[in-house]
Amino acid sequence: MELQLLAKTLFLLLSITTLLPASSGRDPDPVQDICVADMKCGVTVNGFPCKPMSEVVSDDFFSSAISKEGDTNNPSGFKVTAGNVLSFPGLNTLGLSMNRVDLAVGGINPLHVHPRATELGFVVTGEVLVGFVTTSNVYYSKVIKAGENFVIPRGLMHFELNVGPGKALELNVFDSQLPGTLSAPLSLFGSKPAIPTEVLTKTFLVEPNIIHLLKSKFGNY
Ligand code: GLV
Ligand code: MN
Repeated sequence: MELQLLAKTLFLLLSITTLLPASSGRDPDPVQDICVADMKCGVTVNGFPCKPMSEVVSDDFFSSAISKEGDTNNPSGFKVTAGNVLSFPGLNTLGLSMNRVDLAVGGINPLHVHPRATELGFVVTGEVLVGFVTTSNVYYSKVIKAGENFVIPRGLMHFELNVGPGKALELNVFDSQLPGTLSAPLSLFGSKPAIPTEVLTKTFLVEPNIIHLLKSKFGNY
């Protein structure tokens, strides 16, 4: 009888643990209403320390960080303007943020990954081909039009390509105050210090001159 009770208790505990959200899967929950990031505080913690309540003002909860059209005059024809805790300290501990992505005609937000967030996108204007690849190397994609949404699951490689006749604008929400971005071309070919060419030739099964060319385009050499 006692054994049966023990087994039942163990089963219950196990079920509860499995049902609980994985705390490592997203930003930690806030434990207070407000924790406006104190960017000047020297203390380093996971996130940012709160600024004293006596110094919190209305403006801490409003932001114009993503109000202006980004300059897309670059070889890829895109600009990501981040509305995360770094530009909007009121987001600290709240577990979300928003980017604005401007795409010139034919512009691309090149392949990248957000290690700490799922991305929920909304196309405001234009037509955008959105694609991502799963860990099983399956590619999912669709042309998204103004007023439509897309979702990029956490940590998956993705891109957005403007396929419409005019400029495009997206607003993208993240379930993290600081999603982080690993740009595929910059991580591989523009890191400081550079990844050794031998690593890249052996990774991509190409000759060094191809790696040198790619490195020259992304800031190494
Ligand atoms: C789009 O992919 C973004 O990261 O804002
Ligand atoms: Mn993204």
